[in-house]
Amino acid sequence: TLVQNITIAIDGFSSTGKSTVAKQLAKHLGYIYVDTGAMYRAVTLFTMQNGWIDADHFDVMALVSNLDKVSISFTFNPDLGFAEVYLNGKNVEKQIRTLEVSSFVSKVAAIPEVRYQLVKQQQQMGKDKGVVMDGRDIGTVVFPYAELKIFMTASAEKRATRRYNELIERGDNVQYEDVLRNVQERDYIDSHREDSPLVKAEDAIEIDNSDLSLEEQFDKVLGLVQMTLEDL
Ligand code: DC
Repeated sequence: TLVQNITIAIDGFSSTGKSTVAKQLAKHLGYIYVDTGAMYRAVTLFTMQNGWIDADHFDVMALVSNLDKVSISFTFNPDLGFAEVYLNGKNVEKQIRTLEVSSFVSKVAAIPEVRYQLVKQQQQMGKDKGVVMDGRDIGTVVFPYAELKIFMTASAEKRATRRYNELIERGDNVQYEDVLRNVQERDYIDSHREDSPLVKAEDAIEIDNSDLSLEEQFDKVLGLVQMTLEDL
């Protein structure tokens, strides 16, 4: 049989472990991995750096009229085995993972002009297939014709625990309750926004990984890839 490149869309709520499985899969298949959440986070960092967003104000107009000054790119880091995100030529991989960025990103990601620009870039990055892309709207908006769509879920508590452990491991001083609240708030905003809300595509396969080990999850997804390739 011919080995063909396909497009793999992985969507789901925050901290469901989408990126972990997407990275493993891309590596295994020799595909490109694109973390679209990192792109929304980079735009959020840009907005924060310019003072256009804080706890009680968001200057949407300023952001929208300066979107042409935002350039986002990925560069593969061989030491890490995946691509890191750059904002206007500067590596911001660490800076975009803070709880502060997480607390504003859903608001920025709800702006249609932001989505339009990033979706265009994502479609460009995946135009030759052979890509694993994770996000919220990959199977519904970015690649509605993706050969394989996966929708990952897990309980909010399980996800908050994973995120909390990650942040603590990095040395961030955070409280579990704040992380859980952030996860729940983002779930709500991401699934209720008007433009491209987080919904499971009709033809997506749902995986609840609340009680799956990373290995079990990877085996499951790889099985789906093999099935998809056989059905082409
Ligand atoms: O996957 P993540 O937690 O890094 O994503 C950060 C935020 O970006 C998430 O709260 C919603 C938004 N997002 C989006 O709206 N569309 C995507 N394709 C990816 C992320």
